[in-house]
Amino acid sequence: MEYKLITAEYYEQVIEHLRKNFFADEPLNRAAGLCQRGDGNHELEHHSLSTLADQLSIMAIDTQQDKQIAGVILNGVLHPGDTEQALQQLQQSSDENYKTIMQLLYTHSLKANLFERYQVRRIFDVRILSVDARYRGQGIAKELVRQSEQLARQCEYCLLRADATGIFSQKILRSQGFETCSEQLYAKYTNAEGKILLPVEAPHIKLQLLTKVLSYESKQ
Ligand code: ACO
Repeated sequence: MEYKLITAEYYEQVIEHLRKNFFADEPLNRAAGLCQRGDGNHELEHHSLSTLADQLSIMAIDTQQDKQIAGVILNGVLHPGDTEQALQQLQQSSDENYKTIMQLLYTHSLKANLFERYQVRRIFDVRILSVDARYRGQGIAKELVRQSEQLARQCEYCLLRADATGIFSQKILRSQGFETCSEQLYAKYTNAEGKILLPVEAPHIKLQLLTKVLSYESKQ
């Protein structure tokens, strides 16, 4: 398996991988019925492409299988005010399912107030972790997270964050030293009538915002 930065010539292939694997399988997308396997989703594709444009995303390529994409991790940069702006823009979306998911992620993240809490000016944001169903259980997701941390270190980020939506991504990130900053039970994400907005399937019960602080040896 080869791990490399995702450059522009791979964007189409990455989106195709996400359509077949992430869009339908990720726990919140499944709960919302965002799309069928293989289908596109305009909002998620836009979100993915704008993350790719930050040039911090990594893919695992199967060199034995005609350079097929086995997995990807899409990482972006977050600056103060970005999430507030994204939440505002979200109100213009006509995709109610996408809105329900992103509203949860954005409002939960804003409550954690990471910029103030950690006194940083930018955050390395792990947004999408996806492994092709045929390659799961081989440690590829773990390696993608490990390589992302290396990249974050090369670029001198002090903080990584991730919204882990299921127990497997939570376990993977914790195994790489991420810590739980805050969490939200899906059963408690309800509307005014008390209806659960995202009936996420077991074994996933909560969203976790995880962070990892990177420290650097002094150069003197
Ligand atoms: N059942 C049981 N254990 C699992 C499962 C599973 N379905 N998936 C992962 N694990 C465990 C592994 O056993 C392993 O634990 P171990 O180190 O103690 O043996 C650990 O998690 C690491 O597993 P990997 O092999 O590195 O994970 P994998 O490459 O299979 O990818 C992933 C996991 C990314 C969650 C994959 O199943 C997937 O793409 N799912 C759909 C999309 C998704 O839910 N992505 C995460 C959303 S959160 C986010 O994107 C930031």
